[in-house]
Amino acid sequence: MKAIIPAAGLGTRFLPATKCTAKELLPVLDKPVIQYVVEEALEPDGVDGVIIVNSREKPEIERYFSVDGAFEEMLRSHGKAALADVVHASSSLPVSFVYQDEPLGLGHAVHCAAEKVGDEPFFVLLGDYFVPDRQMCVNMARVSKAHGDASVIAVAPVPADQVSRYGIIGGECVGSLPGSDAEGEREGAVWKVSGLVEKPAPEEAPSHLFIVGRYLLSPRIMSLLASQGAGAGGEIQLTDSMERLLETEEMYALVVNPADGCDTGTPAAWAATNARMALGDDAYRAAFLEELGDAAAGLTT
Ligand code: G1P
Repeated sequence: MKAIIPAAGLGTRFLPATKCTAKELLPVLDKPVIQYVVEEALEPDGVDGVIIVNSREKPEIERYFSVDGAFEEMLRSHGKAALADVVHASSSLPVSFVYQDEPLGLGHAVHCAAEKVGDEPFFVLLGDYFVPDRQMCVNMARVSKAHGDASVIAVAPVPADQVSRYGIIGGECVGSLPGSDAEGEREGAVWKVSGLVEKPAPEEAPSHLFIVGRYLLSPRIMSLLASQGAGAGGEIQLTDSMERLLETEEMYALVVNPADGCDTGTPAAWAATNARMALGDDAYRAAFLEELGDAAAGLTT
């Protein structure tokens, strides 16, 4: 089973940093953002490979996930064997690449990986967000198993005035994650999806539950994406093909806490994610607070 990470965006929000560095390779502490997403994608049982949908403008992502024996040898010859091992481990992750030649939307990006996915269900993880404990996709797989291997998406409540920024689901709560008794819009509740709308006006939103960016999808979605016309924003939307999938298959949504994950989609969110990860990591916390000096006091005011 594969996981797809769409990563063909140009990262204009991070210019000028992204003029010659892919935004996916910007570090959170000492690791590129995309490596956190790859490691999260590999966590659920049965996922044995990640397909990154890249653009031809960012060959450095492919280089990052390729073994560079000469570089590792150089590190070893300088007495840095432990670092060489760290570099080798990240270079050897089971990652392959396909290319999206035109920025036609998320649905188009996912469809670029159709051949590699084959006839198996697959995950999609949007790359501007990662979940450090890696449990969100694991829990989605549990919900899928409990419902006959149906498609499952992660959703969360959003204020009414923000629904037009996201994909929004309609449906009803039908239960909860095994081991939880959550109901309604509480974390752990499970909804049966009856409709999906991409970026609706507030008065057209079927609920206040937005699609968080983690999907476990039936392979049938690929044939629907092949014929999907442009939708919101003139883009080929994954959400629109998921809506069509409902005509023939059941789909469920797991209510999650988006704050379990870290956002890296804007410079401010990326900076906050670095701070959060440093504060949560025993190897960094003390040094990070010391480096901040007097500014650390400002964190609590
Ligand atoms: C995409 C999806 C949308 C989802 C969102 C989550 O939108 O199309 O359904 O809610 O990601 O971040 P985008 O952010 O690409 O506009």
